Amino acid sequence: MELGYYNGKFRDINENVIPIDERGHQFGDGVYEFIRVYDGKPFLLNQHLDRLERSAKALFIKLPITRTELETIIQEGIAKSELQEADIYLQVTRGIAPRNHLFPDTDAQLSLTIRNPRQIPEQAYEEGISTMLLEDERWANCYIKSLNLLPNILAKQAAAQKGCKEAILVKNGYITEGSSSNVFAVKNGTLYTTPATKHILCGITRTNVMSCAHDHDIPVREQHMTMAFLKEADEVFVTSTSIGILPVAKIDQAVLPLTRPITQRLSKAYKQLRNVQ
Ligand SMILES: Cc1ncc(COP(=O)(O)O)c(C=O)c1O
Repeated sequence: MELGYYNGKFRDINENVIPIDERGHQFGDGVYEFIRVYDGKPFLLNQHLDRLERSAKALFIKLPITRTELETIIQEGIAKSELQEADIYLQVTRGIAPRNHLFPDTDAQLSLTIRNPRQIPEQAYEEGISTMLLEDERWANCYIKSLNLLPNILAKQAAAQKGCKEAILVKNGYITEGSSSNVFAVKNGTLYTTPATKHILCGITRTNVMSCAHDHDIPVREQHMTMAFLKEADEVFVTSTSIGILPVAKIDQAVLPLTRPITQRLSKAYKQLRNVQ
């Protein structure tokens, strides 16, 4: 059963509970996380909660409950939902107060949803996806997983209108990341990805894919990549919690090679992490 959680209670997913003065609604003033549940267990939960704490701190939002309480709510929610496979979205906003840009004197608000997971067609993993390059129009603090996703939404929509599954963003001539993913390239056996500066979200999948590469003796370089470098790579893939490792078949008009040995090795290794946590 899909579930919602707001103001300290689990609720029917369709219950209308968000007050009009909720700052998440008024300003997008909050942070979020997305956690995937496999086999009844929240995958890489600690790393997601670490990032939630970092994001909240960067925006001066004090989490309304302790880490242990948060873990308990997540575990309780998974048990109540009885879902073995699930998508959990968790938001923390600066709370509810009459509209005013200044920080209110209220507690932050936690909400979450636990739903059946979005399904990505197997064909996308076999064939790879089409992508397009687009100017990265976001702000300077993309390392914060903030609720403000307008440029990401616009980029994803523009890509979809061109028949592409992801927009790969470019700032000052260099690849930053996807509209909802991190970007990797393979060239001559080395794995490349954009350095985790403030201009990208340091993906949990990204971090774990990099350690899978280390474990398999695949050299990894965090390096700024030009558009030409990406288009001429041997393999390109994008990563996120929802998609895992998804191969890229096409970037604008450039068609990438059909064989992807390193992507395949890393996909296998990344899936195996589910059994070890
Ligand atoms: C902009 C952006 N970059 C990267 C990612 C990948 O992050 P993660 O692997 O933690 O899901 C996401 C995920 O939603 C994202 O929105």
